[in-house]
Amino acid sequence: MDMIGVIGLGVVGGTVAAAFEGVGIRVRRYDRYLPVGSAGDLAGCTVVFLCVPTPSGEDGSHDLSEVWSAVSEVEPCLPDGSVVAVKSTARPGTCEQLAADFPRLEFASVPEFLVATQPVETFTRPDRIVIGARSGEAAALLADLMTRVAPGAPVVILRPTEAELVKLCSNAMLAAKVTLANELAEVCRRFGVGWSRIQGVVGLDRRIGPDHLTVTAQRGFGGACLPKDLDGLIAASGAAGYLPPVLIQLAEFNRQIRDEAKADDAQAELRVGKP
Ligand SMILES: NC(=O)c1ccc[n+]([C@@H]2O[C@H](COP(=O)([O-])OP(=O)(O)OC[C@H]3O[C@@H](n4cnc5c(N)ncnc54)[C@H](O)[C@@H]3O)[C@@H](O)[C@H]2O)c1
Repeated sequence: MDMIGVIGLGVVGGTVAAAFEGVGIRVRRYDRYLPVGSAGDLAGCTVVFLCVPTPSGEDGSHDLSEVWSAVSEVEPCLPDGSVVAVKSTARPGTCEQLAADFPRLEFASVPEFLVATQPVETFTRPDRIVIGARSGEAAALLADLMTRVAPGAPVVILRPTEAELVKLCSNAMLAAKVTLANELAEVCRRFGVGWSRIQGVVGLDRRIGPDHLTVTAQRGFGGACLPKDLDGLIAASGAAGYLPPVLIQLAEFNRQIRDEAKADDAQAELRVGKP
């Protein structure tokens, strides 16, 4: 495999494209809105990484319209059996649904765990490479490709829906950790103790670890992924018949403390602005 395609050239797609080029693999790029390339440029690509956005829809579920739109557009250009590796974060069952809708193509979930502030470093040195494939051939092909850009990372082969769930459950765990740190900071404050005195020592426990324990001025968790992926997981679970009470509470608590922090900030600005 010496050529791949990348659809969507934002944080994830841009990093994927640069990393594969960095190890000598030719990359065909297509981004509808930047705009870069065209769907036709992907002709002849037998592996395509799909990195389009999956924002929150009105009901909190992942809006997958750009996923379907991009696949519909490139499908006629791709050879039979081409593998579309979905890096976009999507609801469980997305790859299976894509496979049913576009039977000429193979779909796999290859969730991305990079951190937006250090995209290259975290893309090329992940804790694990997760590949959710429907066939052994697709899994082997993607494992070979991914280990070229992230050598040494353990590779876990799963079914597509399992891989999609790994991504969403991982983000839910991180969201829970941030939320709990915020609540514990309030508890500590009631004893006249700053969380900064406690956080690092709690994080020394290897079962807990030091990451995602910081309480920021904005409070809670923000960014492009954790809030929307938590909402997306709640919506997907609800649609599957289970309203997850703790996750729902996490999301609500997070909105509440972030709104409070914003209101405090606005108050402080008003006080500073007073003559
Ligand atoms: N940013 C992160 O840190 C991160 C980490 C892990 C996973 N993800 C997931 O990866 C996906 C992409 O995230 P991102 O941060 O790279 O998004 P982004 O908004 O930075 O980039 C997406 C790109 O896709 C293009 N695009 C949109 N629709 C398209 C279409 N139909 N055809 C072609 N191009 C199209 C846009 O123009 C944009 O340049 C999301 O599902 C996100 O949840 C993001």
